[in-house]
Amino acid sequence: MDKEQDAIDLLKSYGQNHIINLLKKLDEVKKEELLEQIEKIDFGQIMELYDNTKKKIEIKENKIESIPYLDKAKLREEQKTKFDKLGEEIIKSGKYAVVTMAGGQGTRLGHNGPKGTFKLDVYGKGKYLFEILKDNLEEANKKYDTVIPWYIMTSKENNQATVDFLEKHNYFGYPKEAVTIFTQSELPLVDTEGKLLISKDMKIKEASDGNGGTYSSLRASGCLADMKNKGIKWVFIGGVDNVLLKMADVTLLGMAVDKGVQIASKSVVKANPHEKVGVFCKMNGHPKVIEYAELPEKMAEEVDYDGELKYGESHIMCNLYTIDAIEKASKEPLIYHSAFKKNSYIDEEGKEIIPTEPNSYKFESFIFDAFEFFDDIAILRGKREDDFAPVKNREGVDSPKTAKELYEKYWNRQNRKN
Ligand code: UD1
Repeated sequence: MDKEQDAIDLLKSYGQNHIINLLKKLDEVKKEELLEQIEKIDFGQIMELYDNTKKKIEIKENKIESIPYLDKAKLREEQKTKFDKLGEEIIKSGKYAVVTMAGGQGTRLGHNGPKGTFKLDVYGKGKYLFEILKDNLEEANKKYDTVIPWYIMTSKENNQATVDFLEKHNYFGYPKEAVTIFTQSELPLVDTEGKLLISKDMKIKEASDGNGGTYSSLRASGCLADMKNKGIKWVFIGGVDNVLLKMADVTLLGMAVDKGVQIASKSVVKANPHEKVGVFCKMNGHPKVIEYAELPEKMAEEVDYDGELKYGESHIMCNLYTIDAIEKASKEPLIYHSAFKKNSYIDEEGKEIIPTEPNSYKFESFIFDAFEFFDDIAILRGKREDDFAPVKNREGVDSPKTAKELYEKYWNRQNRKN
């Protein structure tokens, strides 16, 4: 079978003639690389995603309700003790693992490098975001006399920089054998005519396919199998950019065990109706998060009898799963959301084009779209000042300045208590 001819036939059938022209210009080594890449791309899927960008979003008749939750600050003492004990038992017996999603580009922050390598100016000396996460895990390890396996997800784009950084800093003292770095999957970028972009290295330009790729990447990388071998029963998945993230909250874990659910999440009350966070709800009886960009204004502002926001439980990327739930989510396809963005590319003359306006679609799945696969979720409402201080933007809300303030205030309170 002629691999090159097969690729040409495939590309022709999907209207990708510019890639055929490129193939003809490449030397043998580069050609082989491109052919290998073409073999791995699901062109049918990409064209379907592209076609969807042209379609109007169908609004189905959905039954949307607010989500039930328990407020951590209002738990009865015996209830909290019960949850904490259940959670502690799991962590102490080595059945708990943590995943940090660090594959994002962090474009809004304007930091040159993986987001975890950003140094937050705290207590004079400063701390890197990865270091802050490590501190939190180390604290749990001491408290529960264990070493929690830590899985860090990177993207192809930032993997090397992440590995080099963590090596250079000796994993900030975390036992190296307990850290596993794995890389998430990518999807091609497509222009407004459905043509796949070409990158500087004369390949099809791909980009991370969103944090929903975490589940399938955990499986494809062998991390899920590794967790099972280690006897892990519960897996926490969190973001890289919240400096107050509690990755081993025994109350949340115990509450999930007590309720017999497969997934659980910590929320905080939305700061205002238009805060840029996803919000929890129930859709057709299943747990769901509606992302800020997709939340209708009316829903964002709706209040209940007590005057509280009806959809006020924010998704703060503090999610917990049984190992079976991870396995299930890793096998079910998630929907892709498309984002119209600026992406540089190489044109047919071999010239690099750096667009000033959005020119192409990036397809991303969202981690919380898997919640719908489950009948129920346990939501524990935490406190913003204890649980949520994200570093998202260069200035203003959710910036290094606001995160520093919240972080220092939190630790000053803790130090006063001790
Ligand atoms: C995210 C949540 C939002 C939540 C908010 C809280 C999503 C889609 N949205 O929004 O519901 O209220 O955080 O702070 O999750 N990442 C990857 N790979 C990717 C893309 C992202 O690992 O391909 C990681 C990032 O490194 C980061 C996390 O996912 O740790 C959040 O991604 P980001 O794109 O910054 O989401 P937000 O818009 O902040």
